[in-house]
Amino acid sequence: MTTLEQFIIEKQQEQERATGAFSRILRDIGLVAKMLSFYLRRASLANMLGEMGLTNVQGESVQKLDHLANSLFIRNLSRNPHVAGIASEEEENLIPANPSGKYLVLLDPLDGSSNIDVGVPVGSIFSIYRRITPEGTPVQLQDFLQGGRKQVAAGYVLYGTSTLLFYTTGKGVHGFTLEPAAGDFLLTYPQVQTPEKSSYYSFNDNQLHEWHPGLRKYVEDLHWRNQQGQAQSLRYVGSLVADFHRNLLKGGVFLYPGTVSKPEGKLRLLYEGYPMAFLMEQAGGKATNGTQSILDIVPQKLHQRTPLILGTALEIERIYSFLQEHVTVG
Ligand code: AHG
Ligand code: MN
Ligand code: MN
Repeated sequence: MTTLEQFIIEKQQEQERATGAFSRILRDIGLVAKMLSFYLRRASLANMLGEMGLTNVQGESVQKLDHLANSLFIRNLSRNPHVAGIASEEEENLIPANPSGKYLVLLDPLDGSSNIDVGVPVGSIFSIYRRITPEGTPVQLQDFLQGGRKQVAAGYVLYGTSTLLFYTTGKGVHGFTLEPAAGDFLLTYPQVQTPEKSSYYSFNDNQLHEWHPGLRKYVEDLHWRNQQGQAQSLRYVGSLVADFHRNLLKGGVFLYPGTVSKPEGKLRLLYEGYPMAFLMEQAGGKATNGTQSILDIVPQKLHQRTPLILGTALEIERIYSFLQEHVTVG
C-alpha cells in the first residue's frame, strides 16, 4: 500500500520545480488530521463536547472542538517554514507566519460543528495558494484573495466511520484512509471521478419557500423523476464534507443556495466553496453559485459567503436550464 508521504513524493518527482515545500505542508495537514481524529473520537470522554461560550467572526457559537481544531492547525502550520500565512474560518484576520514561506493555507478547521455532539461525521477543509507578494515580506490580504482558480491544492479530511483524506493538486482527486495500526494514511481511492448519474440530492429544505423559483422547479422535477422511477434519494447530513464525500463517490447534487433573506447563502467562499469546487471539477463534476462557476467568482473579503450548488455535470446543467427558464426580474 502507498502511504500519503510516498504518494506525495512520487507526484512531486513528476512535477518539475517541485521543491518539497508543498509536500511538507500536506504532510503537516495529515499530521493534524491524525491528531484530530484521535481527539474527536474520545471528545465525550474528555469533556470536549459543547460550547466554549465564545462567538466567532461568523457570529456562530464556538464549539470546544472548533477551537481545538483551529489551534492545532494554526500551531502546526505556523511552524512550517514554507507557510507564509494562514486564514481560518474561525479567525477574524489573516495570520502572518514565515515571511520566507511561499505558500498560504486557508482552513475550515472543523466543518459540521453542529453535528459534533450527536456523533455525526464532521470534517476539516483546506485550500493552498502560492503567495503573490514578495518573499521575505509579511503576507498581505491580496495573497488570500487570488480567487479559486489560483489554488495549487485543496482537500478535506472526513472523520467518519474511518478517517479519510482526499485532495487534489489539479491532477485528479486522490483519497487516503487512515490506518490507525500504522499511524499512516494509505492510498485507497486513486484518481476519483464522480459518477455521471446522480443517486443522491442533498439540501436543507427549511428555507425552500425563499429559494429562486427556478430551483424550486428543479426540486419539483427531482420529485417528478422519482415518480417516474428514476429514483434519487434525499441524503443530507448537515456536514458539508460528509454530504460532499458521499455525492462525490456515489454521484449526487448538493445545494445550499441563497434565499430572499440571505442572498449570499451560508457557506464561506474561501474556506468551503473554492476548495470543494476545485475537487468537484477535478472529479468531473461542476460547482456553481447559480450564475457562474464557483472558481470564477472574484473574492472581495476573507469571510465572504456564497451560494453553493455542486455535483454531477448533468444535474448542474439541468439546474442551469431551470434557472434560465425562471429568470427573476430585478
Ligand atoms: P461549519 O461547521 O464549518 O460552520 O459548517 C457548517 C456548514 C456545512 O458543513 C453544512 O453543509 C451546513 O453548515 C449545514 O447548514 P444547515 O445546518 O443550515 O443545513
Ligand atoms: Mn464548514
Ligand atoms: Mn467550521
